[in-house]
Amino acid sequence: MKKKIIAANFKMNKTDEEIRKYFAVFLDNINGLKNRSSFQNLDAELIFAPTFTALCAAYKIILPYFDFIKLSSQNIYYEKSGAYTGEISIDMIKNCGCSYAIIGHSERRNIFGESDELIGRKIEAVYGECGLTPILCVGENLEIRNKNGQEKFVENQLNIGLNSIKGRKISSLIIAYEPVWAIGTGMPIKADDGEKIHGFIRGYVDANFSVEGLRVIYGGSVTESNIKELMAKPHIDGVLVGGASLDPKIFCNIFKLAAGLYGGADMLTANK
Ligand code: 13P
Repeated sequence: MKKKIIAANFKMNKTDEEIRKYFAVFLDNINGLKNRSSFQNLDAELIFAPTFTALCAAYKIILPYFDFIKLSSQNIYYEKSGAYTGEISIDMIKNCGCSYAIIGHSERRNIFGESDELIGRKIEAVYGECGLTPILCVGENLEIRNKNGQEKFVENQLNIGLNSIKGRKISSLIIAYEPVWAIGTGMPIKADDGEKIHGFIRGYVDANFSVEGLRVIYGGSVTESNIKELMAKPHIDGVLVGGASLDPKIFCNIFKLAAGLYGGADMLTANK
């Protein structure tokens, strides 16, 4: 059974000290979190992507909960080591407890000029190592959406980004569909439109690649008020939350609302 994903991308926010404070509030707000057996029944998984400098602090805190809270980096570089000033290798983030790596976020693409080809090399590098699942971000801008060109655009991003896994059997991959026009704008996708493009992405990956555990998650202005509608759609396997994840109480509510749909309702209210 593929678990649904509720993921937080903190972007360039929170020092390690702020992360400690965040988790103190977050863990306190989840009723029943210490009840390990009930969490194992929950069909949803939490992922946090703090900055590189806060990963180790976050790892120490979440270690006792590692069967249902996982860590992701926000980026990696594809080389193993060497003269690449400012870059972080896959081994380095694995050493800080990461199970996932976000690759090709639209902010990396648009602000830092990352190309589809570079992103493809990063995906190749991740699959060259064990124990790390990429969260490959794709998504069109408003101009493309207005011309109804989103499927063609995303198809191209997938084709180049996943080029290295053509003909290979892959056990785990997360695609984060994050339309640029929805990120940080307060304009989330309509759930029906989300379902449509997620269905397209799943169909495209299934037809062209061999991925066993594919999950297609949505990112872009996810909040407490739209999480249930989005997660109720069969092709939306989870969410990647930016701004609304920065407040531990709000993110906890988002998690509870989503978890309630996936077997967590009784457990999450049990200790109230
Ligand atoms: P917002 O939730 O702030 O729109 O950001 C989404 C995002 O970019 C997650 O990676």
